[in-house]
Amino acid sequence: MYEIAVIPGDGVGNEVMNAILYVLNTIDMEFNYKNAIAGNECFKKTGTTIPEETVEIAKNADATLFGAVTTVHGQKSAIITLRKELDLYANLRPVKSYPGVKTIFNDLNFVIVRENTEGLYAGVEKETEDGATALRVITKKASERISRFAFDYAKKTGRSKVTAVHKANVLKKTDGLFRDTFYEVSKDYSDIETDDRYVDAAAMFLITNPYMFDVIVTTNLFGDILSDEGAGLVGGLGLTPSANIGKNNALFEPVHGSAPDIAGKGISNPSAMILSAVMMLDYLEEHKAARAIEDALIEVLKENRVVTPDLGGNSSTMQMAKEIAQKLI
Ligand code: NAI
Ligand code: MG
Repeated sequence: MYEIAVIPGDGVGNEVMNAILYVLNTIDMEFNYKNAIAGNECFKKTGTTIPEETVEIAKNADATLFGAVTTVHGQKSAIITLRKELDLYANLRPVKSYPGVKTIFNDLNFVIVRENTEGLYAGVEKETEDGATALRVITKKASERISRFAFDYAKKTGRSKVTAVHKANVLKKTDGLFRDTFYEVSKDYSDIETDDRYVDAAAMFLITNPYMFDVIVTTNLFGDILSDEGAGLVGGLGLTPSANIGKNNALFEPVHGSAPDIAGKGISNPSAMILSAVMMLDYLEEHKAARAIEDALIEVLKENRVVTPDLGGNSSTMQMAKEIAQKLI
């Protein structure tokens, strides 16, 4: 039995978490859930956005399901703290179009592997006389392990090509190191096609010919931006899941935030959270259960009958979750 840390967080995080727990209850697997708190509501109760106990529960679990948190300026970010404490160095963001969903491209299916621990998000900023600077940290170690992760992931999931995205023509030292390390690692994976693109060109090709990509591996900020662009190609935030993976731990969360504009109305799209749990099941090598849930969701999306307002329907979060669960029984 898997031990799963459950961190719903704030706003729609709670709604989509209830939805996925309902769906998971209908499949033929048992989970030992450990509930933990984080976020702004947690801050109001405990004085911290991420209690030590929550980090411990996540560390000890086989995997963590995370909803979304509201981040208030000046408070410590719960999700960034978890990524750091659990050393979740790889951020996996699939860009996949689903039938029945209005997307810019159909039959799109590629994955962005984003380095999650350094780059411009190292958080080293300082004020200067006439402005401020931010330090962009690229290490050989992190470049190597993220490249290796991308190739291993490609191999494991039957993908045939890995593209490194960088800006080594301008950022010669930092992205030069990233690109060179990527090509060094690629030598161990001769059966996988390898190429690289400048980030500006990659951003354009995502709009003109996204089918040229299979796995993209890139640094932190570029990965953040390109994956939101990717989300835009396939129907937006209600549908995009993500995984944060490290050596010993993994955390699965929708790309979206706590959505205060719709929170409490019970109309948030549960798909991104459900697909995050599908990624969790694949990570746990429970592929049969993963495919069953993904297929049930695809059917509900295709039918376009019991879906939330962002998908053009008028059903609630829970009604959509129940419709998916119904297909699993
Ligand atoms: P957001 O992702 O919460 O919302 C952006 C837009 O997408 C809103 O119009 C919202 O209604 C819609 N949306 C989001 N999730 C949806 C869903 N499941 N179904 C239907 N529509 C959905 O981003 P925003 O508004 O920039 O941030 C709100 C709060 O969330 C902020 O406090 C922000 O810091 C936090 N945030 C937290 C993240 C996390 O926990 N990992 C990630 C992004 C933002
Ligand atoms: Mg983002």
